Amino acid sequence: MHYKKNPIFPARFMWGASSAAWQVEGAVNEDGRTPAIIDLNSKTKTGYADNSIASDHYHHYKEDVELMKKAGFTSYRFSISWSRIYPDDSGVPNQLGIDFYNNLIDELVKNGIEPIVTLYHYDMPVWVDKKYNGWYGRGIIAAFDQYVRTCFKEFGDRVKYWLSINEQNMQICYGKWLGVCKNDETWFEDQWKVNNIMNVCHAKAVIACHELVEGGKIGPVPGYVPIYPETCNPKDQIAAQNAEELTEKVWNDFYAHQKYNGFIKSYWRENNIDPDIRPEDLEDFSQAKIDFFGVNCYRSNTAKYAAPDAEPKDYILNKSGEKGNLQFPVVPGVYALTNNPFVKTTDWDWEIDPVAMRYSLRYIWDHYQLPMVITENGYGAHEEVAEDGKVHDPQRIQFLREQIYQVGRAIQDGCEVIGYNPWSFTDLLSTGNGMSKRYGLVFINTTDSDVRDLRRIPKDSYYWYSNLIKSNGQDW
Ligand code: BG6
Repeated sequence: MHYKKNPIFPARFMWGASSAAWQVEGAVNEDGRTPAIIDLNSKTKTGYADNSIASDHYHHYKEDVELMKKAGFTSYRFSISWSRIYPDDSGVPNQLGIDFYNNLIDELVKNGIEPIVTLYHYDMPVWVDKKYNGWYGRGIIAAFDQYVRTCFKEFGDRVKYWLSINEQNMQICYGKWLGVCKNDETWFEDQWKVNNIMNVCHAKAVIACHELVEGGKIGPVPGYVPIYPETCNPKDQIAAQNAEELTEKVWNDFYAHQKYNGFIKSYWRENNIDPDIRPEDLEDFSQAKIDFFGVNCYRSNTAKYAAPDAEPKDYILNKSGEKGNLQFPVVPGVYALTNNPFVKTTDWDWEIDPVAMRYSLRYIWDHYQLPMVITENGYGAHEEVAEDGKVHDPQRIQFLREQIYQVGRAIQDGCEVIGYNPWSFTDLLSTGNGMSKRYGLVFINTTDSDVRDLRRIPKDSYYWYSNLIKSNGQDW
């Protein structure tokens, strides 16, 4: 791609990267942490490394922050492990867990790096799951409220940017994969009850943040995959709108307007679904005004018309890392997803589409006029240390360069974007492929079958990104 004119990024733009507790920390049995459902869920996935060591960030956090500092980071997005803070149902927080995050936050602040903290990133404590039936039981609402209030009280003096629930839309759309769905047979209806409980938890977090954190800002983190219509056939346009509603817009409208939109209410009516929304939920929603959107954007999807009598198909993600192993979903009478011949794909069949970034930012800005911070965007690949001892990742550099360029274009288009935090800072466990699908700017010398020495090796992309950051987006 030829860059005729570099886009201008605002002063104090938050340049950083992202991670999530269970994907980087390791130390799952240390200092009082108890298991999370994702620890157990991971064991059912082929090729998945167990979380107990991951990138061992728990023991390497100082070295990791040092590398962020050297790269010129001004922000770092990470998540807190609920079961490190509340290992059981005693209602007593675990001081050693609090100490770990205090140390990490202090280290970041000391180095001029703004912490952006996710409260929940797929790692529900097993005790919560057992006691309240996970996201299915309304008992989780009070437990979540207690947990987030503790986080705000303990860390809110230094953490001003908070994120509620990571990719709630994806957790509903891929309920089984991400450990939320407990019963395939009834998920069609259950998912909306579960979603309502998640909405209440999100709302409680927004309310508590505003109450307890002076100057605190909080937003949701939708996984945003824009949907293009396959053709200009009007039926494809409506199919694309249907897909957009059922995978993204229902959530984003809720976050921004604090109420359910007309599309989903009518969908529930037509399908005889009762999402069990209670009067007290509506009261919480009405007070949960968000301050910004976190945006996780990796790729785009393409939709086409699906006839009412079409054969239904599930979305089966590519779990092997060999191209061509993905099955697009067909929802009869609603939409079908399909290939986009205009974009390339990764080895996991994820569309590589930098323009989707500009499209997403413009779409969210046009609909909601709220500031946005990119909380995830990245390139998953098979990688190894080369003979020269370095890690060469030209494809990631190309990916980031093109994506960041489009972020700049969106800013020029008038969108308010306050930061860019790609996935991920170091290599970490992918949700489905452990260490064999690497996203990091920094290589972690470990594999799914061999822990090795966990050495940190900055990849070529780390150095490239560092130069870009230090020039505030001018040195491509
Ligand atoms: C995002 C999640 O949806 O995608 C991350 O928030 C995840 O937790 C990332 O790791 C990449 O997905 P995957 O399946 O390649 O790990």
